[in-house]
Amino acid sequence: MESTHLRSVQDAAGIVGTVELRATFSRFPSGVTALCATGSSEQPIGMAVSAFVNVSLEPPLVGVFVQKSSTTWPELRSRPRIGLSVLGANQKAACRQLAARNVDRFAGLSWETGPSGALFLHGATAWLECEIEVETTTGDHEFVLLRILGHRTEEEQDPLIFYASRFHELSTPQS
Ligand SMILES: Cc1cc2nc3c(=O)[nH]c(=O)nc-3n(C[C@H](O)[C@H](O)[C@H](O)COP(=O)(O)O)c2cc1C
Repeated sequence: MESTHLRSVQDAAGIVGTVELRATFSRFPSGVTALCATGSSEQPIGMAVSAFVNVSLEPPLVGVFVQKSSTTWPELRSRPRIGLSVLGANQKAACRQLAARNVDRFAGLSWETGPSGALFLHGATAWLECEIEVETTTGDHEFVLLRILGHRTEEEQDPLIFYASRFHELSTPQS
């Protein structure tokens, strides 16, 4: 990659080229999480979130970035606890469903809930039970720092990978 040929992030009118920037962001591979809880009427609520980062061991903290335009986040943030499921390799369809509009996002999914309403998806590779520590606006997203109250891993379950706007699975090269 030649450093002298960088694309300017803005055009002559100062408009950010969001399509091109999104494509550059997509070159960073990530897992995908689902933030879920039992809603105020006991119905399950949730959304797929790939912008996740492990933050701190002591105190135990993780972070997620949520679009300011999200209609699910305002309801999720009002719940006492949020369940964060790190999606497994077999959860591509579940992930799409958890991001879709005007559908039952939980149709056909299997889950369980904790006593404070955190909701965890079966088939995930890890579960984190969280409460909101700090929330702060960062550009067109909210950065949400979550305190971890409980966790569990399913070590036999590979994670789902999201890269270049597509789903992938881990493959370990033979050495
Ligand atoms: C693979 C994948 C990753 C996503 N990652 C994020 C994310 O990191 N942050 C976010 O706010 N929305 C993310 N979304 C979009 C949300 O899941 C959801 O579609 C969006 O918030 C709109 O729905 P809502 O209005 O119900 O919140 C992602 C969707 C997919 C399919």
